[in-house]
Amino acid sequence: MTALIDLDTLNALDADGFVAALDGIFEHTDWVAAQTAQRRPFATRFDLADALGDALHSADRERQLALVRAHPDLAGRAAVRGELTAASSREQAGAGLDQCSAPEFARLQALNEAYRQRFGFPFVLAVKGHDRASILAAFERRLHQDADTELATAMAEIARIARFRLAERVTAPPGSSILAMAERLARLSEQPDALTCTFMTPVHRATAALLREWMLEAGLDAHIDAMGNVVGRWRSARPGAKTLLTGSHYDTVIDAGRYDGRLGILLPIVAVQQLRLAGVALPFAVEIIGFSDEEGVRFQTAFLGSSAVAGSFDAGHLDRRDAAGISLRDALIAAGNDPDAIPALARDAAQLLGYLEVHIEQGPVLLSEDRALGVVSAINGCVRHRVAISGEAGHAGTVPMDLRHDAAAAAAEIVLLVEQRCAQVPGLVGTVGQLGVPNGAVNVIPGACELSLDIRAPSDAVRDAAAADILAGSARIAARRGVALRIEPLLTVPATPCAANLQARIAASIGRVTGSADVRHLPSGAGHDAMQIAGLTEVGMLFVRCGHGGISHHPAETLSVEDAELATAAFMDFLQQFPIPDAADNPARSDR
Ligand code: GLV
Ligand code: MN
Ligand code: MN
Repeated sequence: MTALIDLDTLNALDADGFVAALDGIFEHTDWVAAQTAQRRPFATRFDLADALGDALHSADRERQLALVRAHPDLAGRAAVRGELTAASSREQAGAGLDQCSAPEFARLQALNEAYRQRFGFPFVLAVKGHDRASILAAFERRLHQDADTELATAMAEIARIARFRLAERVTAPPGSSILAMAERLARLSEQPDALTCTFMTPVHRATAALLREWMLEAGLDAHIDAMGNVVGRWRSARPGAKTLLTGSHYDTVIDAGRYDGRLGILLPIVAVQQLRLAGVALPFAVEIIGFSDEEGVRFQTAFLGSSAVAGSFDAGHLDRRDAAGISLRDALIAAGNDPDAIPALARDAAQLLGYLEVHIEQGPVLLSEDRALGVVSAINGCVRHRVAISGEAGHAGTVPMDLRHDAAAAAAEIVLLVEQRCAQVPGLVGTVGQLGVPNGAVNVIPGACELSLDIRAPSDAVRDAAAADILAGSARIAARRGVALRIEPLLTVPATPCAANLQARIAASIGRVTGSADVRHLPSGAGHDAMQIAGLTEVGMLFVRCGHGGISHHPAETLSVEDAELATAAFMDFLQQFPIPDAADNPARSDR
């Protein structure tokens, strides 16, 4: 294996040293690195990869053709004779091309021949994440492209190969990598000037695809499942190895911050990459899951991703509709997902060692106490309802005040009731986050009004008592005003305690990386995927300080590079200190 080099060193080398350090990133070609040397310094490995990609794409046709021709055929005669570069031979073997059956090998040779005849250069494909069947399918499809499109496709594949090779060669501090990745994810948004990523939109799918690429770069097996979860697995060589789960969500609220959820996916990717490159082999598998929906913005139902993994997905949700009337089922099918495959996503609890979620605190406690990291003790429970009020529409100028049945005025009273009731108990919180007058107009008395209700508390009994009082009070308000109420329960999640042993392990890791045994334990007011996974296995959560007064669900949400660095160190420590599980407790099973 080629020696690792860190990005700072790479930035400081002379141009010849830089080109030599990137030897082999492109097959038998050094002009790409030579051109890119002038664009240093690079802040992250991703910027370096982009610059290499720019050099490729802006090169003239002759240079591009020469570079493509420097590549070997896939499973071609050079491969059989053992004449590939070390990188090519590792990559081809990784996709199983060294184990072709005789008919597959014959098919590949025929395709190689036909492709070379048609285009005059070899077929180039970044095979990571492919298997033999998908390689053959890509081959057949590309054989029919026109020559210019095919050359452009080949260049894009060469850029992708370079990204994978760079990830195995160039190291950078985890904190800056995590922040750079969050910034890149935030460029994918449903709104031009704000970050919004809701379930199964094109932006959501592009986000999932990018996460999968980064998982592949980190050396994980990675796929996107039928619910849009991005699943990356770091296998263990140990027979019978069980799996430690980690992850968080990649969907967002509207006009979101860039770390809510995403930190808990990016940090483990970067941590696993670091450990792999350092030659660490764990005695258990690690699965990183980017959950597709936790916020529930599009279909008004939270935890679609984690409930599927936990085996608690309610198939009744498939009929829920978004604001445009599209059902969840149709949204899944339109994106190429099979709703019937969702039940099979449930994990077998007997194969799991637990779940660790990393998340920004989304509040001010750690910040106010000058602590970077904390251990979550429990996650507050939550109930949600949708309330539809029907009154009587009428002319804003002609109907006297005492004859009105104004649905919005009733809603206003309900909003104040929520505020007043929830202020009575410390820890209890209630929010009306959505409030609308459908088809409202400036000169029409609101005939209808819809509002959302979200009530949370550390204790389910306290929360349920508040919800009951608020719903009864709302009914009284409606009766007095002569309007009708329709209440639809949306969600009930119990308060979720974090497992004592995982809390102790997280605290010990924080203690080791901060050098202080004084570790803060705190409850989470926000909901998390861990609440669903708790139905499957023990859960623990590592909180990371949130800057800017702790603001979250807001674009001003921040995370410092130093805190990201420290959190990664704690996460890696947690993995490395995790006790070697006893393979004997499940001798009949083995890792996939
Ligand atoms: C998720 O962020 C929630 O707590 O609602
Ligand atoms: Mn959130
Ligand atoms: Mn979150």
